[in-house]
Amino acid sequence: MIPAGAVKVRVPAKINLALAVGDLRDDGYHDLLTVFHAVNLCDDVTIAKSARWSVKCETPDVPTDSTNLALRAARRLANECQAAFPVSISIAKAIPVAGGMAGGSADAAAALVGCAALWRSGHTREELGAIAAELGADVPFALHGGTAIGVNRGDSISPVLTRMELHWVIALPGGGLSTPAVFAELDRLRAQGLAESSTDLQAVLKALTSGDVGDVGQALGNDLQAAAISLAPDLRRTFRAAKEAEAVAALLCGSGSSIALLCRDADDAEDIALQMAGSGTVAGVRVVHGPAQGARIIEG
Ligand code: C5P
Repeated sequence: MIPAGAVKVRVPAKINLALAVGDLRDDGYHDLLTVFHAVNLCDDVTIAKSARWSVKCETPDVPTDSTNLALRAARRLANECQAAFPVSISIAKAIPVAGGMAGGSADAAAALVGCAALWRSGHTREELGAIAAELGADVPFALHGGTAIGVNRGDSISPVLTRMELHWVIALPGGGLSTPAVFAELDRLRAQGLAESSTDLQAVLKALTSGDVGDVGQALGNDLQAAAISLAPDLRRTFRAAKEAEAVAALLCGSGSSIALLCRDADDAEDIALQMAGSGTVAGVRVVHGPAQGARIIEG
């Protein structure tokens, strides 16, 4: 139960079916070409009227001060909304922290949707999308959900029309990885000629149209994978375990450290999850499927 007058927003994690990283730009970001895919591993964010601005979350390593991205999102929207009042934001996290699945961005997207409703701000989804892009490269997709192409920093989104449902096991290695550190490691490897882009967006889009899970598995690619493995070599053990468990394919989620294992169907995912859980290479596993809806109000 949520307090009277509050809203609860559910928001999905993302994986990238393809993530091609271009050059480092003057603003510190890299140009990206990516296919985002939202999966039903969701945070629930409750927003209620309050005497003062606050955020709480029981999961370790989530900041609960003014740097929290959901709180920043709420305050950013309040600047544009005459009827805004302070809110308390309470985050129930299922999306792994520092897992490359855009959990912080998801919470920010949820805060935008929840606050817009509480304050009756009248913002359209497009207007919220523009504010989302200011907050972070992955925030617009968390609003959007589904499967979508992302360009620029990943924040310009166009939907991919596919009805293909994909089943996954998410393997959670013990420690997280810092997104800026992984991008910087890719730049370093490239400067030494040790990494090149092999990710083919068109192949993924074609495979999604074919509806063949094997084709999708062959086409998956993430330019950040080599950099993440370079920083966290133990990830290799998890990839080896994924192969032994006969997943269709395995790929790093975003900048890691989570790894997504593509499965043939829901039963196959349950079997592979059991094998991965017993492999001694992961701290946890989650069985999920996609595409999932973007940030939406589920109560209030
Ligand atoms: O947008 P967000 O705050 O999630 O990005 C975190 C960091 O990841 C950026 O500061 C940047 O170092 C890196 N990044 C990047 N290129 C992108 C997205 C993120 O270099 N397109």
